[in-house]
Amino acid sequence: MHIVSFSNQYHCAVAPLRHCAVEPFLLPLGRFYFVIMKKFKRYLVTSALPYANGPLHIGHLAGVYVPSDIYTRYLRMKGEDVISICGSDEHGVPITLKARNEGVSPQVIVDRYHAINKKAFEDFGISFDIYSRTSNKIHYETASEFFLKLYNKGEFIEKTSEQYYDEEAGCFLADRYIMGTCPHCGNENAYGDQCEKCGTSLSPSDLINPHSTISGSKPVLRETLHWYLPLDKYEPWLRKWILEDHKEWKTNVYGQCKSWLDQGLQPRAVSRDLDWGVPVPVKDAKGKVLYVWFDAPIGYISATRELTKEWEKYWKDSETKMVHFIGKDNIVFHCIIFPAMLNAEGSFILPDNVPANEFLNLESDKISTSRNWAVWLHEYLSDFPGKQDVLRYSLCASAPETKDNDFTWKEFQSRNNNELVAILGNFVNRTLVLTNNYYEGEVPARGITNDNDESVLKEISVIRTNVESAIENFRFREALKEAMNLARLGNKYLADAEPWKVVKTDPKRVKTIMNIALQITANLTIILEPFLPFSMEKLRGWINTGKVKWSDAGKTDLLGAGHQINKPGLMFDKIEDEEINRQIEKLLSTKKANETAAAKNKPSKDPVTFDDFSRIDIRTATILEAEKVPKTTKLLKLKIDTGIDVRTIVSGIAEYYEPQDIIGKQISIVANLEPRSIKGIESKGMILMAEDKDGKLVMVAPADKVSNGSMIK
Ligand code: MF3
Ligand code: ZN
Repeated sequence: MHIVSFSNQYHCAVAPLRHCAVEPFLLPLGRFYFVIMKKFKRYLVTSALPYANGPLHIGHLAGVYVPSDIYTRYLRMKGEDVISICGSDEHGVPITLKARNEGVSPQVIVDRYHAINKKAFEDFGISFDIYSRTSNKIHYETASEFFLKLYNKGEFIEKTSEQYYDEEAGCFLADRYIMGTCPHCGNENAYGDQCEKCGTSLSPSDLINPHSTISGSKPVLRETLHWYLPLDKYEPWLRKWILEDHKEWKTNVYGQCKSWLDQGLQPRAVSRDLDWGVPVPVKDAKGKVLYVWFDAPIGYISATRELTKEWEKYWKDSETKMVHFIGKDNIVFHCIIFPAMLNAEGSFILPDNVPANEFLNLESDKISTSRNWAVWLHEYLSDFPGKQDVLRYSLCASAPETKDNDFTWKEFQSRNNNELVAILGNFVNRTLVLTNNYYEGEVPARGITNDNDESVLKEISVIRTNVESAIENFRFREALKEAMNLARLGNKYLADAEPWKVVKTDPKRVKTIMNIALQITANLTIILEPFLPFSMEKLRGWINTGKVKWSDAGKTDLLGAGHQINKPGLMFDKIEDEEINRQIEKLLSTKKANETAAAKNKPSKDPVTFDDFSRIDIRTATILEAEKVPKTTKLLKLKIDTGIDVRTIVSGIAEYYEPQDIIGKQISIVANLEPRSIKGIESKGMILMAEDKDGKLVMVAPADKVSNGSMIK
């Protein structure tokens, strides 16, 4: 941030105008706007609590934990009062389902993955101040208290409704305990809380032909009592708080919030009939627990309580800046539901920002635990020991900040070889080796400087300012690129000044050159520290300096004349093609295994009469218009000419077709399917799709062009 200073109450920053800024403090100034930002006394950084039902992969690091760690390390170096909170999310149906499958208790599952994930974070230098867990006693207490406070204030609606019950297993079927056909896209394996095919969130009563995932039996309806948070009541407040007061939030976050709010909010159940979770702390609530998405974010509060007696200053003082780092699937919970809970409770602060990232794909395919399509952190570490920073670097450099992004092993290799080795490693190595050769490791004094020397020295503070501004605006890719510019600057400086040549004719001049190269090196240990903590610690060992402060960045006398440095080691080494090919082959064999597993086609369905068949009106039609349905990843809204009429159909094909590519295409549709409202859009009919074994969808089209409305029979 370009700080122009003010009272100690406010920072004054110059920022290019996006859709931006805190209204009363916005002053236009040419192309830039003066944004006067509130200066906070302390920071509370939270990172989404990962479910303790599986190991972590590169998507987790790139989306949430590398950015949050960079942010936190930067603030710590600035001397800010900051705490970074995380832990395991240990409730929810996926955990109990896994336990059931393995024939163990849920506690066994969460104990296992809590330990694995805690270690993975430590291994990668993700420096949480606490990594707690939601099966802790303190969390049960905190979550119960929170619920009771809302309960006693009358903030919940208490309502009895009919819900699905499995008579064989003797329990209600919440969320993923029930499966059936998605009413929107026809996917037969939709869950009670979500259809993973079209991305729609569902409730069990939406499912067609529901069945229990426990016993497979057909459930019956039974009455049950639950507590609901009336989100509709908070809608006007949320609209103002997000859409007016937080225009500076990332476009992807702001847009998703707007689309949720525009569709209207409904009361949400905060309890479930389950036996794993925080018991609902009121009388007559036997067998009922808090919904995982009610208790998990309260986990941030419990973890802070566990960390420090002074937890309230972080949670209850408006001079604390709270920032939630999350992935895009968590946006609604952190921007709408949790804030509504906090607001209802009344004594807590709200997040100042929620810099959610999009998703990271792997070699052009969605990362998937069930298909083992991932780079697992523990496997990476055993294949590339000691190379944590290389992964941190390449994940930050291609983080999915504004849109989904792809991780490829080739790009990983080139980031290492062409950037870390060729730019950073090369500069540092040359500087330290020459200093050792020429002066036995003693920093030479800087003599008379020329214009180029001066401008290089000045550039260091410019780079520092750029990095600051990018980090404070949650643009970590840009921040890293800027920080690497310091190494680029150093490389170029040495290449232009050629000390190895000049040393023969003008050894005095070389002292100046090497002094400047050493100042750049010392600055690197500060500016790159948030990104590459392991390597910068090594480097500090080689230049023989201690802990670094951010405020020292930009100084040009960090290493005084006469200071003794050590012999350098190797910071990064080249990653050869063989290593990369081994990783690519590993993925290829995963793909093969998945294909073989899925190779069996499903047996044919039960016979139907010709009469049954002929009641279905299948026709040819042409796509006239196509556009993405906002806030969904899978839905396209299509306007089609059916030969009978022009109508709208919403179809779950956005992952397979770009809107602009399908306009004018002839397709087949079920013309007499009952209309359904999908995301508030009335969809009349269904596009026929062929689905292959990987779940890939392809439109079914007539082999030759025919007129629209032709019957298919
Ligand atoms: N466990 C959730 C996920 O992995 C994230 C929970 S974040 C919290 O998607 F705020 F609820 F803790
Ligand atoms: Zn669906």
